[in-house]
Amino acid sequence: MTDRIMLNGVAVYPGYIDPDGQTALVAATRDVVRAAPLFSPMTPYGKPMRVRMTSAGRFGWVSDRGGYRYSETHPAGVAWPPIPDPVLSIWRDLVGQARDPECCLVNFYGEGVKMGLHQDRDEADFTWPVLSVSLGDEALFRVGGTGRKDKTASIWLRSGDVAVMGGAARLAYHGVDRIRFGTSTLLPQGGRINLTLRVVT
Ligand code: SIN
Ligand code: FE2
Repeated sequence: MTDRIMLNGVAVYPGYIDPDGQTALVAATRDVVRAAPLFSPMTPYGKPMRVRMTSAGRFGWVSDRGGYRYSETHPAGVAWPPIPDPVLSIWRDLVGQARDPECCLVNFYGEGVKMGLHQDRDEADFTWPVLSVSLGDEALFRVGGTGRKDKTASIWLRSGDVAVMGGAARLAYHGVDRIRFGTSTLLPQGGRINLTLRVVT
């Protein structure tokens, strides 16, 4: 059994994906990005987000003046590509076979990019966990409770680590304070990919 670290109810599996597996996930992510290019979503307040994103699966997560939501099409109008098999198998191993995720959000963090504290709450059914995979540079991940002001704890997520936010931690506030650019050689140009799997409906 893989080691597991609990951080405010979030389960972190350090090194869950071995280096060959990480390389395969990067290749699969490149296929997704080829079909559905990364874009910089606009916040509902009209500011572009620093993290570049795209999705795979029946639904993709988008944001614009209309708010945060799931959409069956990329902003360019095309359907999202299917969630790659090696990504699905991580979910099936750690969450189970009963239901597959309907969205694989791809977040790309370049140098200096971070993500503010937020809850994942655009989904219909919070009984399904959120599973996230870290690839590339290290990231300082912060997790609190279900209130914005709750005490937080942090951990450096490294390439190959998997985090599962389920149960009481499904709606925990979380974010990425910073990345350590260039700490991994997985992506030749540096940066970090985070894959987030969610059941949407
Ligand atoms: C997210 O909360 O959407 C991303 C978390 C991460 O990048 O690890
Ligand atoms: Fe999130």
